Amino acid sequence: MKLADLRGILTYSARFRDKIFVLNIDSEVIASDNFHNLLLDISFLRSVNIKVVLVHGASIFIEDLATQLGITVSDTHGMDITDEQTLKIATMAANHISHRILEGLRDADQQAAVTNAIIAHPAGIIDGEDHLFTGQVERVEIDFLLKLIEEDIIPIIPPLGFDGNGQTYRVNSDGVALEVSEALHAAKLMFVGSSNGVRDSGTLRAQFSIEEAETFLHKHAADLDKEMKSKLQHGLRACRNSVSRVHLIDGREDAALLQEIFSNEGIGTMIYANEYEAIRQARRRDVGSILNLIRESVEFKQVLPRNRQSITTRIRDFHVFEIDRNVVGCFGLIPYPGSDPEVMELECLIVAESHANQGIGRKLMDYAETTARELGAKRLIALSTQAFNYFQQKGGFLVGDPDLLPPQRRTIYDQSKRRSRVLYKDLVPL
Ligand code: ARG
Repeated sequence: MKLADLRGILTYSARFRDKIFVLNIDSEVIASDNFHNLLLDISFLRSVNIKVVLVHGASIFIEDLATQLGITVSDTHGMDITDEQTLKIATMAANHISHRILEGLRDADQQAAVTNAIIAHPAGIIDGEDHLFTGQVERVEIDFLLKLIEEDIIPIIPPLGFDGNGQTYRVNSDGVALEVSEALHAAKLMFVGSSNGVRDSGTLRAQFSIEEAETFLHKHAADLDKEMKSKLQHGLRACRNSVSRVHLIDGREDAALLQEIFSNEGIGTMIYANEYEAIRQARRRDVGSILNLIRESVEFKQVLPRNRQSITTRIRDFHVFEIDRNVVGCFGLIPYPGSDPEVMELECLIVAESHANQGIGRKLMDYAETTARELGAKRLIALSTQAFNYFQQKGGFLVGDPDLLPPQRRTIYDQSKRRSRVLYKDLVPL
């Protein structure tokens, strides 16, 4: 751990204190070697007064039990038909898992209780088929859960619903987690599963706004695996209703839960309904952050060194990219009044190393272009020694000639021996 990580820990623990987090833990995670560590991490959340509710799945234990007993089950996920025999196995598997959680939490010095807070009714006949003992969540007994939470007892919610007439139903844990997080107005719903977030052509999608998640789901409706799709769909619904953030992380990876919650960039995928990232005009108090960004990239000879004074006097020409109020990127626009055509220079387009490869540079570039256009510029120029490919490929800039520079800029260019490449983009009015 770096000492700088402490900032994230302190910021986020203050922000999430007294909030409710609903964790939906997959059965694969419970069966994994990391389960013990995960419970220690949960007890860390409790120590900073984050309130935790645990929902769990049962599918792989149902499969195992069925194999051991030589029984064929009608469904393992609580989404298809649950016949009588399958319900019996599902109940045994769920009880076994709840017990393991109880055991592990006791080991981590936490009090916990298995609950019957999910009131359900039969899912009924779907597409002509009676789903028998598969249930649909009717409501969540909120008062019951809140009482436990108030008493520092962690509620454990198995994937089973009860109908008040002595009948139990098998319910899907993603559905339960969604209903519980909405009912309790949880700040977060976290899917602690066996894959580290959502991948798009191999690369992690670190975050989605609600609209981006909708588009992604729509586009990948056919190729997403069934479990990932269910999590995204349920997560999206939670975000649309009242839950601010939904996360998908790999619970088999050590400390993934803590990394996601207590760092700015996280480790898995997050869908957010509240403010997470924004581009805004820089203010005086951003000077330090901008200088840090410049310092980081000066080390790689990407931009010219600047001093505090030169940034402070021109602070209004800068914009910053913020993630949870942490500045992780910036750009500046230099006006050249009287130039013909009206030119602006895009300078200091920088993204912090910690947030590289997330499309932030591209967003900043688009924003710079729009701002320059709004300010009346007809052409945007950029000088670069190393990132010219980036400007060309992502921003549609063309390689130009130093003659394109306004006279006052040209003099500085000739004096400096950097021989940067001059790039330009003509801004067609929209
Ligand atoms: N730690 C913050 C939170 O828990 C931000 C997490 C960002 N995660 C991500 N995958 N982008 O809300």
